[in-house]
Amino acid sequence: MIKTDVLLGLQWGDEGKGKIVDVLTPNYHNIARFQGGPNAGHSLEFNEIKHVLHIIPSGIFHPDKMNIIGNGVVIDPIILRKEIKDAEKLGVNPTKNLIISDKASLILPTHRLLDAAYENRKGESKIGSTLKGIGPCYTDKTARLGLRVGDILLPDFHNRYKQLVEHHTILLESFKGELPTEAMENEWMDAVNYLSKLKVLNTEYYIHSELSAGRTVLAEGAQGSMLDIDYGSYPFVTSSNTVSAGVSTGLGISPHKVGEVYGIFKAYCTRVGSGSFPTELFDDDGQKLRDQGHEYGSTTGRPRRCGWLDLVALKYSIMLNGVTKLIMTKADVLDGFDTIKIATAYQVKNIEITEIPYKLEDAEPVYTELQGWNCPLDTMKSKDEFPKALWEYIAFIEKETGVPVSIVSIGPNRNQTIHI
Ligand code: GDP
Ligand code: IMO
Ligand code: MG
Repeated sequence: MIKTDVLLGLQWGDEGKGKIVDVLTPNYHNIARFQGGPNAGHSLEFNEIKHVLHIIPSGIFHPDKMNIIGNGVVIDPIILRKEIKDAEKLGVNPTKNLIISDKASLILPTHRLLDAAYENRKGESKIGSTLKGIGPCYTDKTARLGLRVGDILLPDFHNRYKQLVEHHTILLESFKGELPTEAMENEWMDAVNYLSKLKVLNTEYYIHSELSAGRTVLAEGAQGSMLDIDYGSYPFVTSSNTVSAGVSTGLGISPHKVGEVYGIFKAYCTRVGSGSFPTELFDDDGQKLRDQGHEYGSTTGRPRRCGWLDLVALKYSIMLNGVTKLIMTKADVLDGFDTIKIATAYQVKNIEITEIPYKLEDAEPVYTELQGWNCPLDTMKSKDEFPKALWEYIAFIEKETGVPVSIVSIGPNRNQTIHI
């Protein structure tokens, strides 16, 4: 039986999912997003050009592959239209190889305004949201108030839109938030009209028929497992299930049709926005990781917080997702370090633990130190060129997690990818 493979981030997002999905796309017929929305920023690089995708799956630059936006995704039509237009400028025509679930949720301008109003109200304890309206949109979905892509063509769409905006306006007024302008609403309606002309269909049936016909699907995660609404450091999380279970609810694929689960992680850790980050570095090493890894957000441009690899968190993510293969990215960023640290346990109130505690902010990392390789990896063409210290780093991770590392990424470009 043909199964859906999954690729998802094991840390706090930005693990390099976009790049690796693009690299793996030739092996699949379909690439599908199952959750998240324009809070994601997935970068891929080839022919000296860097592309950043927010809503469109990262298979879009392969014209013979179908890209699917599943029902679990939240779509801002304005951002989607811009993404399509930007791709068109590069000679790609996403309207041909993109299909959108009729059940995907619509982000309204008022969702973005509410996101900002909620964050302002939180003050010091704000989440550090990307302010793309993700939380308010998923809130409306579960409150059964939301609008979906399939609603656009219904005769009462405009009325339903007005009703929802009225509801949002009451909230915005009570939070003293910014109210929507006519220009904002017109731009949105225009983009909704554009979206209605794209290929919108029941993607559950589409995927099911593809799998039945022996055609393959790769599900592309957004964010990372440590930002999952249930398992992340709540409330400093996103508003969807980022773990592999989200593939079932976000695409309508039953669990027994999930095959490989590729878990992608950086050779160190980053986090953008608020919330606990046990291995975060505030010293020169942290700055060095940020500089060498160009650790600035793909969506918001914010500097990312940087720290050493955290195996307690990584093992938790591997467990939650059922990871079968690991992919390590940004190994090249560690090139200039004499020694590299890995957290293998936490200390909480003087007790050593190897599980994620309920209050992650209490955790102090316990480190193991490994030798750095101190040589450039980014021009290497095969694993045979890898230095001994890098093999030791990989072996340590494999031994601790019990999962093989199948790919090591040594630069942002498609061809800086070493299969092991
Ligand atoms: P995503 O959200 O998981 O798709 O990751 P992002 O695209 O937000 O962030 C990853 C960043 O690292 C992007 O700027 C990529 O171009 C870059 N990148 C990906 N893999 C590598 C790698 O192996 N080495 C280096 N130096 N950069 C990489
Ligand atoms: P990709 O797919 C990194 C973070 C935000 C914030 C929290 C909630 O590129 O890996 P939200 O906008 O969802 O309300 O923000 O989650 N966040 C991400 N961090 N990568 C992402 O996506 C993220 N999407 C959301 O910074 O802390
Ligand atoms: Mg990103």
